[in-house]
Amino acid sequence: MVVHNDHPFNAEPPPAALAGRPITPVDTFYARNHGPVPESDPEGWCLVVDGLVERPLTLSVAHLRALFPEQTVVATLQCAGNRRAGLAGVRDIPGEPWGRGATSTASWTGVGLAGVLEHAGLRPEAAHIAFEAPDVSQEPSPPQAYGGSIPVAKAMAGEVLLAWAMNGEPLPPAHGAPLRVVVPGWIGARSVKWLRRVTAQSGPSGNYYQAVAYRILPPGVDPDHAGPGEGISLGPVALSSAILSPADGARLAPGPAEVTGYAYAGDGRAVARVDVSLDDGATWAQAALDPQDDGPWAWQHWRLTVDLPEGDSVIAVRAWDDAAETQPESPAQVWNPKGYANTSWDRVAVTCDA
Ligand code: MTE
Repeated sequence: MVVHNDHPFNAEPPPAALAGRPITPVDTFYARNHGPVPESDPEGWCLVVDGLVERPLTLSVAHLRALFPEQTVVATLQCAGNRRAGLAGVRDIPGEPWGRGATSTASWTGVGLAGVLEHAGLRPEAAHIAFEAPDVSQEPSPPQAYGGSIPVAKAMAGEVLLAWAMNGEPLPPAHGAPLRVVVPGWIGARSVKWLRRVTAQSGPSGNYYQAVAYRILPPGVDPDHAGPGEGISLGPVALSSAILSPADGARLAPGPAEVTGYAYAGDGRAVARVDVSLDDGATWAQAALDPQDDGPWAWQHWRLTVDLPEGDSVIAVRAWDDAAETQPESPAQVWNPKGYANTSWDRVAVTCDA
């Protein structure tokens, strides 16, 4: 893993570790933490469901298992800061310089959030479902426990899980044991780990990570002085793609070389096409999409054999989704002060020695 920070622990797999693997092994899955991993106490742990519900609930994992049908969803999690390094290359950005690996895919098992909210008697005036966790982050002033929210429509859509297992194993502490939210198709920040409270409410969460962070600020705004509600709140993941192999800076032999990577279209959309260019977008060749049996919430891997000339080449990739959206050409077009949603074409430079 490429460790960006030990305290709190933030690490991503190198691109080669994600290449050709539809499911990411647990020990390779990126870790994004804003505070310390809380002490695990699965026995004493319980989840409170309250707010705009007819019957507030207090549930252990055993209660959840007994009351609701088990559900498994394969879902890609992607941090909004994935590929921030590309934006930081345009102009300085504080925060972890994430490469292409702040995204990974697992099969998640738990119960549907919708069923739990129905059981609690969700009231019609509820518009947002807020999540609270116990890990206290030093980033806000004063320090604050982590939280966030999603609109009721997404919470009730069926794919959102309260998960206790990852790839068929109990969730490890770093990924949210004993229970986490998994919000497929939305930025990883909404998949709150170490979940303690689910609250139905009329407005979005006022938590720092919903109201202040994870927002696209206009380029001129000082991120240290942005107030609650400023900028565009990030929810559904924006279309993106990345090259996983060859590695940036690789030295290869001239001739045929297989280029592989991932593309991800986010909430409710599918990757329709992936293009690769060796001449910075003057011409494009279409990559083959790998067979994908993991359902609508998983990324799409792709591959293409290109003919690399002797000397230096830059390989670029762009994806298209089923609404015919495609990616912008340069990171400068999408630069923003907090360095989120780098949706620009991905590029790797390679050199071929005769
Ligand atoms: N939940 C809590 N309680 N604390 C956090 O710091 N980080 C969020 C989200 N859930 C976070 C959290 C962010 S920003 C991301 S991208 C995902 O968890 C990462 O999940 P992972 O560490 O399992 O990959």
